[in-house]
Amino acid sequence: MSRLDSFIRRLEAQRILLNWAAAEIRDRAGIVLEVGLGNGRTYDHLREKLSGRAIYAFDRAVNANPRSIPPEEYLVLGDFGDTLPAFAEAHPREAVLIHCDAGLADPEANARQVAMISRLVPPLAVAGALVLSDQALSHPALQQQTLPASVPANRYFVYLRT
Ligand SMILES: C[S@@+](CC[C@H](N)C(=O)[O-])C[C@H]1O[C@@H](n2cnc3c(N)ncnc32)[C@H](O)[C@@H]1O
Repeated sequence: MSRLDSFIRRLEAQRILLNWAAAEIRDRAGIVLEVGLGNGRTYDHLREKLSGRAIYAFDRAVNANPRSIPPEEYLVLGDFGDTLPAFAEAHPREAVLIHCDAGLADPEANARQVAMISRLVPPLAVAGALVLSDQALSHPALQQQTLPASVPANRYFVYLRT
């Protein structure tokens, strides 16, 4: 598969899952977390699908399109290793949906990142929360879910916070 095809499949999987997850949590209370604001595309999508919901976005720095920059009070800047635990202290288990899009190109750095996110996400999520991730996470409190049939296998991962 060409890199272009692979990229398109990843974006398709992202869109299908974000739409699905937004519909799943629409009637449930809780905040939404975007871990990896980046260009702001998926943040913008969540904002559109979950209008009026508090959506916090995390990143090292703001590099988003100006149309997709969250209001200052919903922007959490710094390394995830610092910001996620601090946020969990201030908002323990308040998130009903967490979208992690923070995979790294270097395999070793990515493995460290995945281990860190796997450990730091559960204290943020309420019981029954959905956690979407571009990388496979591993934690006893994260139960992997079957993907909707239209999502290409192993492109994205969904977990239920037990
Ligand atoms: C793939 S991009 C996110 C793309 C975004 N979801 C979008 O649709 O535009 C990943 C982002 O995660 C951020 N990131 C990766 N590792 C990080 C870390 N340890 N702490 C803070 N930000 C990090 C990068 O700065 C980058 O902006």
